[in-house]
Amino acid sequence: MYEKLIAMIPHSRPTIEESDVLAVSNILRSGNIAQQNTVKKFEQELAHYIGVKGGVATSSGTAALHLALLALDITKKDTVAMPSYVCTAVLNAVNYVGATPLLIDIDPDTFNLDVEDLKRKLTPRVKAVIVPHTFGLPADIEEIMAIGVPIIEDCAHSIGAAYKNKMVGSFGDISIFSFYATKMITTSEGGMVTSNAEKFLEKIRDLRDYDNKADYIIRYNYKMTDIQASLGLSQLKRLNQFIEIRRGIAQKYNAELKNLCSLPVNYRGDSRHIYYRYVIKLHRNGIESFLKLSKEKGINCERPIFKPLHRYLNLQGFNNTDSVWETAVSIPIYPTLPEENVKTIVEFIKNVIN
Ligand SMILES: Cc1ncc(COP(=O)(O)O)c(C=O)c1O
Repeated sequence: MYEKLIAMIPHSRPTIEESDVLAVSNILRSGNIAQQNTVKKFEQELAHYIGVKGGVATSSGTAALHLALLALDITKKDTVAMPSYVCTAVLNAVNYVGATPLLIDIDPDTFNLDVEDLKRKLTPRVKAVIVPHTFGLPADIEEIMAIGVPIIEDCAHSIGAAYKNKMVGSFGDISIFSFYATKMITTSEGGMVTSNAEKFLEKIRDLRDYDNKADYIIRYNYKMTDIQASLGLSQLKRLNQFIEIRRGIAQKYNAELKNLCSLPVNYRGDSRHIYYRYVIKLHRNGIESFLKLSKEKGINCERPIFKPLHRYLNLQGFNNTDSVWETAVSIPIYPTLPEENVKTIVEFIKNVIN
């Protein structure tokens, strides 16, 4: 009973301020609450932030992935490669179009797709690679682009991260974003597809909405609303500030925890890690007991990926993904995390691990 009364430090939290509330109430008062001009404005501003031609807002990141695959004409004859260490949304989108998923192992230091494993497993049937920048650390996107297979950059974790001083989301043929409640910026639920290619943007815009069309093909209702977009616009204004605060917290964790856990290296000087997640790798304690103890102490730590895809599909041979899944723990990091909570979290980890 006493345990339940402890105020939990949440694992993640949206950063909602008065300006967000005001932006949303203005839209509610205007009466234009479905997909209208505010969605268009959010699309333009996000595309401008990333440095690409255009964006199409969607109801979720999963819907964005589905539309991206449809834009690339991926069908059941095709195979789509993706890392095993990713949430099931990615696998779902590939299954929505009936394609065959090809799972790739990860680099255990960066948690990103292992390029050598991708090269080994590549066949002529692979018509796209979905490349997440896992936990906000850019994948080696140029090396993957050099393979020559179309790329969907999955920026669900990584809006504002940069690779060689250029925004992630500006490299792939198509890129997708998620604005779920706990993401870097939120629209509660929501997503976006961006691209430099007008032909992809046009097709995605057409498929997102079923109404008032001259012809009939299967289309979707994957629209974002102006209510959501008003929150997105308001959040986007503060994204750089959110990133700076997250990087500041990460620096404190780096300084305090570097001798205790294996931390992911920020492997390129010209990459910007935005610390969507701060992940430590335990080397001694069992992960289950660590997670249980953290909750008992009022700190909500989590496995950053609930279960790798190969484990759902009963596939073997993903040694790096397995070892990361067995040791990697995500500790709280978000712009509103108070300084005293950072100290509590550091003390807890030092006590448990020593
Ligand atoms: C890497 C990645 N891609 C796609 C998604 C799907 O996003 P959504 O939850 O907005 O559908 C997620 C979800 O968190 C994700 O982690």
